[in-house]
Amino acid sequence: MTSTLTQPVTAASEPAGSAAGGANGGAAAAATGLSATVSGSLAAALRRSAQIERRIEENPRSFRILTGDRPTGDLHLGHYFGTLRNRVRLQDAGAGLYVLVADYQVLTDRDAAEALAEHVLGLVTDYLAVGIDPARATIFAHSAVPELNQLLLPFLSLISTSELGRNPTVKDEIAHSRQASVSGLMFTYPVHQAADILFCKGNLVPVGQDQLPHLEVTRLVARRFNERYPGTAGPVFPEPDALLSDAPLLLGTDGGKMSKSRGNAIALRATADETARLIRSAKTDGQRRISYNPVTRPEVSSLVLLAALCLDRDPESVAEQIGDGGAAALKRTVTEAVNDRLAPVRARRAELAADPGYARQVLNEGCARARAVAAATLEEVRDAMGTRY
Ligand code: TRP
Repeated sequence: MTSTLTQPVTAASEPAGSAAGGANGGAAAAATGLSATVSGSLAAALRRSAQIERRIEENPRSFRILTGDRPTGDLHLGHYFGTLRNRVRLQDAGAGLYVLVADYQVLTDRDAAEALAEHVLGLVTDYLAVGIDPARATIFAHSAVPELNQLLLPFLSLISTSELGRNPTVKDEIAHSRQASVSGLMFTYPVHQAADILFCKGNLVPVGQDQLPHLEVTRLVARRFNERYPGTAGPVFPEPDALLSDAPLLLGTDGGKMSKSRGNAIALRATADETARLIRSAKTDGQRRISYNPVTRPEVSSLVLLAALCLDRDPESVAEQIGDGGAAALKRTVTEAVNDRLAPVRARRAELAADPGYARQVLNEGCARARAVAAATLEEVRDAMGTRY
């Protein structure tokens, strides 16, 4: 993986459309200084990610990967190029893959999770449509795995309140929250996230920059648990690594952060006509000649990048080819590229959606598998802690 920092890294697991219009996402976090806080460790994390990519090539089966999303809406092209296709790549390379529907986590910044069941099954359908294979990957919701949730209690004892309070991503989310008060879950969900990862002894977590502080919490929890409760058969938990995405940031069609709630995102499930309409309404600028320069021409460049990603080409050559064709030719190119690229995903999604019982069955089977794994881990935790009477 070649990782450059010329572009912000897409949040690999950004919420599909948070209430505050992306308050949890990487871009929002970067804008308020999170990236400065983590930039030292960011360079190290990027170097480490490149090394891990080589180890995946050599020995994919030594990795157990856990990734997940909050079920807040349809997955869109930002998710597709930022994280989904990477998950499929890792799965196909032979790594063990757990995909988490983080339904409890939806409640961090809102009182009630609206249309939760619909969003959860929609998310599962999106996963299947892009090629996550339930025969190889385990798709589950954390609310359905009691043994995972039970790990939260000992884990909470390993982290101090001041450590919880200085998590930059949590601070950023609180700053952007539209809620009158901040719930205890907002401060503790990073520890719950440690349970999400450690219940299955996940050792690799593909993430965007905004999730790095959370992964640090997971590593601390694992390390402290192992120190405080040395198991008879060696340490109970691995200290998982982050795998940073090198995906470039895709903007929404209004030039802002791509987010379902802003109406500027191209959903995987959108029709070809809806896609054309959204791209037709996209913001461009007054210059006729199309070029690729994300700094001086962010809106035009994001469209060029979108076409390039869909066509597996580099953005400079796409811009060059459109040249004096102007915004109209650019939008025609983007629309065709997106619709062609997504056609098989959408066809598969339509098939899947015609039988909603199937997504439900995949989820239930995944939850059962996750429960068996979590129960075995909880047994080890009981032995290590001496809570077996
Ligand atoms: N925090 C992630 C998000 O905002 C979702 C998530 C929950 C997650 N648990 C996780 C991601 C564990 C990676 C690992 O989208």
